[in-house]
Amino acid sequence: MSHNLLTVAYIAASILFILSLGGLSNPETARRGNLYGIAGMVVALGATAFSREVSGYGVLLASMVPAIWIGGLIATRAAMTSMPQLVGLLNGFGGLAAVLVGYASYLNPDASLVGIDFTIHKVEAFIGVFIGSVTFIGSLIACGKLQGWVSSKAVLLPGRHLLNIGLLGAVIGLGYYYMTVGETAGLLPLGIMTAIAAILGSTLVLAIGGADMPVVISILNSYSGWGAAAAGFMLNNDLLIVTGALVGSSGLILSYIMCQAMNRSFANVLLGGFGNTAYVGKAVEGEATPTAVDETVELLETADSVVIVPGYGMAVAQAQHAVADITKTLRDRGAQVRFGIHPVAGRLPGHMNVLLAEANVPYDIVLEMDEINDDLSSTDVVLVIGANDTVNPSALEDPDSPMAGMPVLEVWQARHVVVLKRSLSAGYAGVANPLFYKPNVSMLFGDARSNVSAILSQLTQTAETNAAQTAVLTGAK
Ligand code: TAP
Repeated sequence: MSHNLLTVAYIAASILFILSLGGLSNPETARRGNLYGIAGMVVALGATAFSREVSGYGVLLASMVPAIWIGGLIATRAAMTSMPQLVGLLNGFGGLAAVLVGYASYLNPDASLVGIDFTIHKVEAFIGVFIGSVTFIGSLIACGKLQGWVSSKAVLLPGRHLLNIGLLGAVIGLGYYYMTVGETAGLLPLGIMTAIAAILGSTLVLAIGGADMPVVISILNSYSGWGAAAAGFMLNNDLLIVTGALVGSSGLILSYIMCQAMNRSFANVLLGGFGNTAYVGKAVEGEATPTAVDETVELLETADSVVIVPGYGMAVAQAQHAVADITKTLRDRGAQVRFGIHPVAGRLPGHMNVLLAEANVPYDIVLEMDEINDDLSSTDVVLVIGANDTVNPSALEDPDSPMAGMPVLEVWQARHVVVLKRSLSAGYAGVANPLFYKPNVSMLFGDARSNVSAILSQLTQTAETNAAQTAVLTGAK
């Protein structure tokens, strides 16, 4: 393939990646965004494979065919709730690739690089290996925490900030030594630095509690992008630089948005320790009021406005299809039904939006927390389905709560609230929830899917009876 054609293909792939990111920003266009991303990757891989630099097709095929097969298998088998772990693992592979490219390009540099160009190349290799190693080990630990293989508690080593600064100092010292030695003698400092970066990756991520893992995964995703951009510089590949920068900056923006949603600063998340305190909120006074399916149906039948607030429990119970059917039944009866989505509901960004889209809930009734919060006080019934932390009033009412200051859906402002979950236990952040004890809140205990299905069947029966009665009355007239 000629150099000009390769440039055109790379520009086309970059445009497709940008369109993909644009599409992924909205559930309505997310599917299209994914298709753009796939098309961009096919163009990028095809153009690179047929470029003049590539000749070892045997090796390429031997690595790509099993990789495509394994990737396809993992993606189709991974449960929706395991997506953060999967993303974490894939970030890690991005980091590992940056490490391997760094070593390869250090050991076999482009012969045309001399003088300042060679120095820059050495710096690129060092930085690429550093970012890659931190990302690889950090991602494996984050993935282990989310999967439950590593304790999700923040591991706070004594003097860990000093330790991290010391490790960073050692990396800088080794970098200086690496730059001053010639030929392949830099392999030793590079190797020691890789090990130190791996230790740094583990101390940094181990110190962060499980509740902050989504932000960590997103930050590591950003690092893997910067690692890829560094690899792009080493390989003199413009597309890899552009793609790495896109991944790096979008990961950073997503991390920032998630930190804001949890009312946390970057530094607060990255320096760790959140969720490790034994204090789990004020002692809750009063008793929770249990309710039954019939009572919930009665409330829903007389409500003019209903807001449904889904959370992680809806995903676990896979209740979204029955929830969508309830929505349709209530809307057919003339009630206003809307959804309130917290930015960190569930276990991955956009988790609830994906599930509701899968169940064909119309996009225009799925609102963000900021869009619905003001309307909750004029809402007749709020159904909280498997959500907990995201509706916890202690975030606003208890300044000592570990969640203090986190914006939440203020569901308790509504006339009636029914919470569907199995027990009174705390959510992901481990903080007790005073919502369950408020006077206008009742608890519908049990698996969300069984309860939602029971509500649906009673609502449908009533709707059919009403329709039959109307038909009889209309016939009688
Ligand atoms: P959570 O606070 O995690 O609470 C979910 C609740 O669902 C649990 O308390 C559980 O209570 C209930 N539940 C579980 N299985 C159920 C079932 N089969 N039927 C009915 N209820 C069930 O949920 P949330 O409000 O969505 O908050 C999300 C939390 O996860 C936040 O702390 C957030 O920071 C964190 N997080 C978010 C993300 C992203 S990016 N979205 C990623 C990782 C972590 P019972 O056991 O009593 O049933």
